Amino acid sequence: RPPQDFARRITGWQATHGRHGLPWQGTRDPYRVWLSEIMLQQTQVATVLDYFPRFLARLPDVRALAEAPADVVLGLWSGLGYYSRARNLHKAAQQVMARFGGEFPRSAEELATLPGIGRSTAAAIASFCFGERAAILDANVKRVLTRVLAYGADLARPAAERALWTTATELLPFGDAETLSREMPRYTQGLMDLGATVCVPRNPLCLLCPVGDVCAARAEGKPEAYPVKTKT
Ligand code: ADE
Repeated sequence: RPPQDFARRITGWQATHGRHGLPWQGTRDPYRVWLSEIMLQQTQVATVLDYFPRFLARLPDVRALAEAPADVVLGLWSGLGYYSRARNLHKAAQQVMARFGGEFPRSAEELATLPGIGRSTAAAIASFCFGERAAILDANVKRVLTRVLAYGADLARPAAERALWTTATELLPFGDAETLSREMPRYTQGLMDLGATVCVPRNPLCLLCPVGDVCAARAEGKPEAYPVKTKT
């Protein structure tokens, strides 16, 4: 039910109203993009802006991270919390060296085999760095898509979550490799930014939304009713 031009509306909005100039956006280096995505999973952008450059200055590439002592990695993470992220980061770097010869794999499917990289993070890295046509579905994007679709199934049910992944994939930009290499980073970033700044949990700013005119939850007058998720 979303319009044919859904992806183009997201990329067009991201170009003018999305977030730009963040230090992990000017690069297609998977090490930098991976590090930023792991930091941003449970930490505010403002805090990551402080930690990200310091971490990179000390451990500038995947080999440096893989060979660093654990206490150095934990020390650079100190204050960010959720320390399993740092331990997984260290393990993943060692696996990139041992299993992939020091080069990050270029597909979301292979990226998702590394510790701490789930399906959505793998898709974020593959779309930003390699232009892969892979869907992200983090908490922000679940909110955007369930609202546009007025998708009221309980996301605690695996079948409901699976169906949303399928829809997320159908909504991705289409095109040849060159088009996707250009459009996928903008699309992925656009969905993230829309969820973070417009389609927020309470009092969403529907008047500013590039898909507000086709949003089924807004049409129902209750955007805040989505997503539906019982228990944890
Ligand atoms: N949160 C997760 N990934 C992000 C990104 N690439 N930019 C801003 N916020 C994010």
